[in-house]
Amino acid sequence: MNQSDVLRKTKEYIYMKFSKDVTGHGPDHMERVATWCRTLAREESEDPFLAELAGWLHDVDDQKLVQDPKQAREERMEWLLECGLTKDDVNAVEEAIDTVSYRKGKKPTTRLAEIVQDADRLDAIGAIGIARTFAFGGSKGQLLHSDDPDEPTSIRHFHDKLLRIHSLMNTTSGKREASHRHELVLQFLREYEREQNIKGETTK
Ligand code: ADP
Ligand code: NI
Repeated sequence: MNQSDVLRKTKEYIYMKFSKDVTGHGPDHMERVATWCRTLAREESEDPFLAELAGWLHDVDDQKLVQDPKQAREERMEWLLECGLTKDDVNAVEEAIDTVSYRKGKKPTTRLAEIVQDADRLDAIGAIGIARTFAFGGSKGQLLHSDDPDEPTSIRHFHDKLLRIHSLMNTTSGKREASHRHELVLQFLREYEREQNIKGETTK
């Protein structure tokens, strides 16, 4: 298979696999991440093909989304080998995906890994990041917000994760886009608090 066939087939596979997702990890998430991976790879003089491929496949073994992450990872590696990638290229893609997760907190060890991490993180902030946070929270039965500081809520997730992302970016363009998106997240939180704190007749 040539490179565009590999990407086309991978896209089809991802659209089939994630089409029913309601946790903010639908195929649209994978496509935005793949797109940013390609853009950032061009700017950083990395291989855009491997970057895009890693973007499409980065959540296939996410433990939130699949029962058996190890098996999912093995299937992904088999798929990449079937596509005709060399062992070195498969390892480069796997290594890039391994450090993508915010929760695991691993540091990227290659430039490709930094690119995939940035692409995934951009999708957690800005307008789309805000939408995904409430989609994820709703799908887990989580409250929007709460006065109880121990209650895990979607607004709390903004403070735990979203507000930190802009300072953790690796690439120049990733940083620029993240700081634009960060402003919107700040504005959204200010406005949420303002609307939430408007007192009316019932609370006198
Ligand atoms: P990753 O898969 O990169 O480790 P996460 O699983 O933390 O990232 O995030 C995936 C999406 O779900 C992001 O948009 C994130 O902000 C959102 N999300 C993750 N955990 C929560 C949570 N507890 N409440 C609300 N949204 C969440
Ligand atoms: Ni992701």
